[in-house]
Formats: sequence, structure tokens, C-alpha cells
Amino acid sequence: MSIVLASTDFWEDMEVWSNGLQKAMPEMDIKVYPDDGDVNEVEFAVVWKHPRGILKKYPNLKAILSLGAGVDHIISDPDLPEGLPIIRLVDKKLTHEMCLHALHWVLHFHSGQYLYRSQQLKRQWIQQSSIQTEDRTIGIMGLGNIGRSIGELLVTQSFNVIGWGANQKSSLTDIKYYYGQDQLSDFLGRTNILINVLPLTSGTTNIITKKELSLLPKDSFIINIGRGGIINEDDLLTLLSEGYIKAAALDVFTQEPLPENNSLWDHPSVYITPHIAGQSNPNSAGQTISENIYRIQKGELPYPIYSRTNGY
Ligand code: OXD
Repeated sequence: MSIVLASTDFWEDMEVWSNGLQKAMPEMDIKVYPDDGDVNEVEFAVVWKHPRGILKKYPNLKAILSLGAGVDHIISDPDLPEGLPIIRLVDKKLTHEMCLHALHWVLHFHSGQYLYRSQQLKRQWIQQSSIQTEDRTIGIMGLGNIGRSIGELLVTQSFNVIGWGANQKSSLTDIKYYYGQDQLSDFLGRTNILINVLPLTSGTTNIITKKELSLLPKDSFIINIGRGGIINEDDLLTLLSEGYIKAAALDVFTQEPLPENNSLWDHPSVYITPHIAGQSNPNSAGQTISENIYRIQKGELPYPIYSRTNGY
């Protein structure tokens, strides 16, 4: 029995990943694609943007496990073997990193750091009036593990936090929850800083266009750490250029790496990071993935399994 690790993104780090997994499962035979040994032996594939089509090579594959939070990089493979469970990565360290990344940009925008930087460049000493955290509403799109943790962290800092998702959820103590298309405009109309953590599905693709962005109060901010295809990039640029949206911190894009000629790079109100908001940690992700592999081996259910119906 063996486990194959495959990625087109982490080639140079594959040893680190393989070590992380091996540490958590010392008795397992871990292969790194393309050095995958006997293909009949491979029972688990642990992947991040694996080379398309390779998973069909393994006739005894039992499950596909993601090295990242999202699984769109798996589902988008047109040659994915059918009927296998796909396991998302819900990992404490990754969630913690996402929380810190979101908090960083919330504070950057909330406390006017972006203004002080531009004032400094002009040698201007201007004290901007401060806004209390309870007077700032942070709207989080996507209240799964990560979105919820970000929300709870912001609540501890006394921000007013609201959330939106596609489906009804039981109420969250300190986070007012909106759901479905019907409640999207109410949610957006109350949001000063919009954080997107939604996964990319057929239902979330391009759901935030010019129309929805215009429902945000003027001078709102955007933080996108979910997926690029959810907020229409051209529409966002238009509203930033018109001065309707104040600034945007973007970590994810429709096309990654963001092409050199993309206008987002040049916009003075756009902050770009290269999909680093929640980098999986080889030791902690290795541990989480190993627990799921052991569960499957014992005939138990791994967590969380990607649902084809929900799209995440
Ligand atoms: C992701 C990740 O899925 O970085 O985007 O984990």
C-alpha cells in the first residue's frame, strides 16, 4: 500500500511535504509523483493542483485528499476518476493563518493605514478621525470553518460582524447571518468591509458583479481570500477607479499567477498578495491528512468530504 503526493505548484517543496506526511505516518510508503512506484499499490492521493489526468493511473485508489482548503483544483481535472471521496483540508494552523491575514487587512483599512502611507509619501501630517470598531460592519461571505473563525476573532475586537451564505444555518451567537439570493442585498447594504471566503462553485462563480458591489455603502473595502472567480475583477476595477470602493486587498484571482499585464497590478488602491493568505503547514496538514487516512482504513468517515451537491 502506498500514498502518492502530487502537485504542479510545490515541486521544489515536495520533500518538505513528504517529510510532513511521513512524520505523521512513519509506517507508510509515501511516493512523490512522478516517482510513484507500483501504481497498483497506490491507495491514497494527496494533491494540490496535480498534473491533470494522473489520478486515473491508480486502479486501487480509495480517496483523494487536498493539500489546501479548497478542492476546485481537484474537481477541475476533466479526467478525475469517478466515485471516489474527495477530502477537504480543515486544519487549525491554516485557519489561524487565514484569520491573521483577514485581521491584518481589516485593521489596515479600519485604522486608515492606507491613508497614512500615502500621506507619508507627501510628507503630510493629518490626523484622520477614527471610527469605533462597533461602528464598522464586517460582512463575511462564506461562514464555514474559516469564515466563522475569522468572524469570531473580529467579534473579540468589538467589530460588528455579519455573514452571508447560500443556505440557511442555525444562528451564530454574535454574527447575524443572512442567506440566499433574497438576503444578499440586505447583507451587502450593511457591510463596510467585505471579506470573501466562499469556495468557487457553479453557484458562487461571478456572484459579485458591478450590481452587487454597488449595493455596498460608498467607501467600502474588499478583502478577497476565497477564490478569484467569485468577485468580477473588471467590475471591481471600475468601481475602484470611480472611487466608489475605497480599496481592495486581493489574495486570489481568476487567473493565477496573476498575469503581468493585468491592470489590477497597477491600481493604487489594490493590494496584491500571491495566494498566501492560508498556507498549509506541512507538519500540521500532514497530521490532519494522516488522521483522515487512518479513519478511511478503519472504515470510518473522513472529515470533511467534498459534497458534489453543495459544490464544496
Ligand atoms: C486554498 C488554500 O485552498 O490555500 O486556497 O489552502
